Amino acid sequence: MELFSLKNQVALVTGGNRGLGKEIALGLAKAGADIAIVQRSEIESEVVREINKLGRRCITIRYDLTDSSNVEYVINQVINELGKLDILINNAGVQHREPSETFPEDQWDFVMNVNAKTVFYLCQAAGKHMLKQGKGKIINLASLLSFQGGYTVPAYAASKGAIAQLIKALSNEWASRGINVNGIAPGYMQTDMNVNLINDETRNRQILERIPAGRWGKPEDLVGAAIFLSSPASNYVNGEIITVDGGWMGR
Ligand SMILES: NC(=O)c1ccc[n+]([C@@H]2O[C@H](COP(=O)([O-])OP(=O)(O)OC[C@H]3O[C@@H](n4cnc5c(N)ncnc54)[C@H](O)[C@@H]3O)[C@@H](O)[C@H]2O)c1
Repeated sequence: MELFSLKNQVALVTGGNRGLGKEIALGLAKAGADIAIVQRSEIESEVVREINKLGRRCITIRYDLTDSSNVEYVINQVINELGKLDILINNAGVQHREPSETFPEDQWDFVMNVNAKTVFYLCQAAGKHMLKQGKGKIINLASLLSFQGGYTVPAYAASKGAIAQLIKALSNEWASRGINVNGIAPGYMQTDMNVNLINDETRNRQILERIPAGRWGKPEDLVGAAIFLSSPASNYVNGEIITVDGGWMGR
């Protein structure tokens, strides 16, 4: 299974301390990678211990991704502590739900900064290193709202639409120089981000009725796609978004 091996690879996972990012970080470590996690929280996540138990290195870097101006610091930390950077997973993301007619500017900026602007500058900082290295994998977390408009989440939809275009834009520039830029669009997943939807009986029923697989996604459902896009198995996959949604988009 060398095709899917991440042995001797170093991966940076933003927001890898919980939710989808945590499961992706663990999955990449199981496939052989050492892991750096970017998180806001001062509390060390159990994911560090779990990854260490697998015999892999795991460091955490405290950084608030609302600030895109100093992301070189994050990339330098990874290289200083783990020697290099092969895989960047831009997973961290935020949501704000409010009708468009009252949607506040500060929330628009917050969502766009974390979900789109900082993602671009992290790609840029990691990309500079990967271009010198002659190889790298960048995977950005997109969403069903990269393709659909959603409802009362205008900033989130705009930010994830931007991610879909960014994946193609970066891929066009970097594919011939050894960097694969791709994305994963999760469907409706059971994480903290969706607690309100899960607890809303009507919305929960409506969502489940449309998912052909008949259930919400679990964080571990994304691991296969994350390993594929991080590994040599995807070396000729460029500018693509893999939808992992239990069939939602086909409905
Ligand atoms: N859960 C879903 O159904 C779903 C669906 C589609 C896409 N996504 C995307 O997947 C990604 C992960 O989502 P999740 O459901 O695990 O969300 P989550 O809220 O459970 O976790 C988000 C992670 O991002 C981190 N984060 C947020 N803002 C940050 C900041 N300013 N600085 C540093 N870290 C920050 C959080 O600490 C957390 O670790 C997001 O990009 C999200 O948009 C999620």
